[in-house]
Amino acid sequence: VSESSRFLPEQRDIASLAEAAKGCRACPLHERATRTVFGEGPEDARLMLVGEQPGDTEDREGRPFIGPAGRLLDEVLAGVGLKREELYVTNAVKHFGWMGEEKQRLHAKPGRREVLACKAWLHAEVERVKPRMIVCLGATAAQSFLGPGFRINLSRGQVFETPWAKAWMATFHPSALLRMPDERARVEARRHFEEDLRKVADTLR
Ligand code: URA
Repeated sequence: VSESSRFLPEQRDIASLAEAAKGCRACPLHERATRTVFGEGPEDARLMLVGEQPGDTEDREGRPFIGPAGRLLDEVLAGVGLKREELYVTNAVKHFGWMGEEKQRLHAKPGRREVLACKAWLHAEVERVKPRMIVCLGATAAQSFLGPGFRINLSRGQVFETPWAKAWMATFHPSALLRMPDERARVEARRHFEEDLRKVADTLR
């Protein structure tokens, strides 16, 4: 079982879950994070997006995907006709992870331990929202559901039926697109990302 399951409240609506998650001590990330960044969006959303972990902007402001990766995500969502305010947006890990000095605030990717520790929150969100489709942005989110063997490069853009949602897909993480140094690779990855999200919009139609 996930370490965070002992922090779950009795009431499992999103507001109660978000409130309880503020006190989560299931892994060491809470020690340095500014706040818990819980998922947000309508409780009856048909689509749930799952990212990796809040970044610097999200840690400061307390909402998922509002920094540079969030802006790219919003742009692509709008391009395929998906409205962000109709989606439930969350992360596999609810606390920012950083390394180095206080002032540097360098993002450190969560390890298997943190992902497992945080899993009970994600699963409680899925149980509450019961989305028709779950889209994982990047390997960390996908592996939280399907285990460490999941590879984005092999299975990106494919729609699977899973115990969590009738339709489940993993695609690139928008931050990965922003970081690609090679221009051609970046343009190509962005095109794949757009195609995948268009497929998501079609699946939900
Ligand atoms: N990257 C993520 O995975 N999630 C966020 O909320 C922001 C950036």
